[in-house]
Amino acid sequence: MSREAVETFELRHPRGTTRHFYGAGALAAGWAALAPELSGRTLFAVSSRPILDLHGARLEPARRLARSFHLFEVPDGEAAKSAAEAERLWRRMTSAGGKRDSRVIAFGGGSVGDLAGFAAGTFLRGVAWIQVPTTLLAQVDAAVGGKTAIDLAEAKNAVGIFHHPLAVVADADLLATLGPQHVRAGLVEAIKTAAVADARLFDLVEARLDRLLAGEPGALAEVAAGAARAKAALVESDPEEAGARKLLNLGHTLGHAIEAETGYVAISHGDAVAHGLRFALRLSLAAGGDPAFAGRLGRLLERLAVPALPPLGAEALLARVALDKKAREDGLAWVLVDGPGRGRIAATLSPGLVRRELESWLGGPPSDSL
Ligand SMILES: NC(=O)c1ccc[n+]([C@@H]2O[C@H](COP(=O)([O-])OP(=O)(O)OC[C@H]3O[C@@H](n4cnc5c(N)ncnc54)[C@H](O)[C@@H]3O)[C@@H](O)[C@H]2O)c1
Repeated sequence: MSREAVETFELRHPRGTTRHFYGAGALAAGWAALAPELSGRTLFAVSSRPILDLHGARLEPARRLARSFHLFEVPDGEAAKSAAEAERLWRRMTSAGGKRDSRVIAFGGGSVGDLAGFAAGTFLRGVAWIQVPTTLLAQVDAAVGGKTAIDLAEAKNAVGIFHHPLAVVADADLLATLGPQHVRAGLVEAIKTAAVADARLFDLVEARLDRLLAGEPGALAEVAAGAARAKAALVESDPEEAGARKLLNLGHTLGHAIEAETGYVAISHGDAVAHGLRFALRLSLAAGGDPAFAGRLGRLLERLAVPALPPLGAEALLARVALDKKAREDGLAWVLVDGPGRGRIAATLSPGLVRRELESWLGGPPSDSL
């Protein structure tokens, strides 16, 4: 994708259509295209201080379009996703005269998007909202598909609704300020989506990985748009995660267990999922997956230079997986990948096989890419 090339696509869902604007210059194109939706209305923008310090000026066009504009700061990162913060937003919107025809703008990463989307979807039984994802992970994954959520002390994303935004405006220019860890976290999700659903995207990530890791805007824009499109196609085919959309959980079954077992601090979500992908690959091979593709995916993950796992026990991780499974209404099973773009849900993997593979994987040398 060349500089200033804005790519647009739509995601049709049971309650309407979400317009997507991706690439360098997407914000200018998005504000112009969305002007009829925003002009003369009460607008509530939700963001956090670090993001506003870096990119807050990019909200100015929305401020100029609004009849009245209110900027609500929320805590940075995961701390935004609480019932207390949702309540604070509901109350601030009420005090500022929010009505059903007001609009919410989520300006931030996945945390801001999840909270603001949840608050928008529940305030007055649902007001329309626009997502402006500012991290690669949010552009690739979190902003696409209409899932919103807040956390409870007992479990992440425990309370949430499906509330699709009117539009997702993902400007690649915002990604220039991301640190390497956040670039890597977004790339892990892009690789996951490519592995289960889009062989061409997989080739692209493989070919561009050095440029992507260096944060080159053109390469990031191309991959963000490709991964968002691939996810949108899966979501269209399965809006509420009854089937194909579950493929996007590749690497997350063990990834969540690793995060929980390490207390959500020792290892980031992106890195936990990268390890989860490596293990899913190993299970896929044990279940008859394509060794050539497993080698490619293994080498790609190795090039991400994810920090090694701290010592973890197979039993403890499997207990976390079982808890996670029980907590999920969808009774999540392992997702495997048979070849490029060919994910599948393995409903009946023998627990004995999973345990053996996990034990030997955890005991293997750190350089063992699978
Ligand atoms: N709704 C979904 O479908 C879905 C999917 C995947 C993940 N998520 C959620 O997304 C969240 C993670 O999102 P995230 O990875 O975007 O993290 P995040 O939103 O917590 O942001 C991480 C950090 O990046 C900073 N940041 C944001 N934009 C920046 C920029 N342009 N330049 C520099 N720094 C910037 C923020 O200030 C923050 O400190 C989790 O809560 C996860 O549960 C939701």
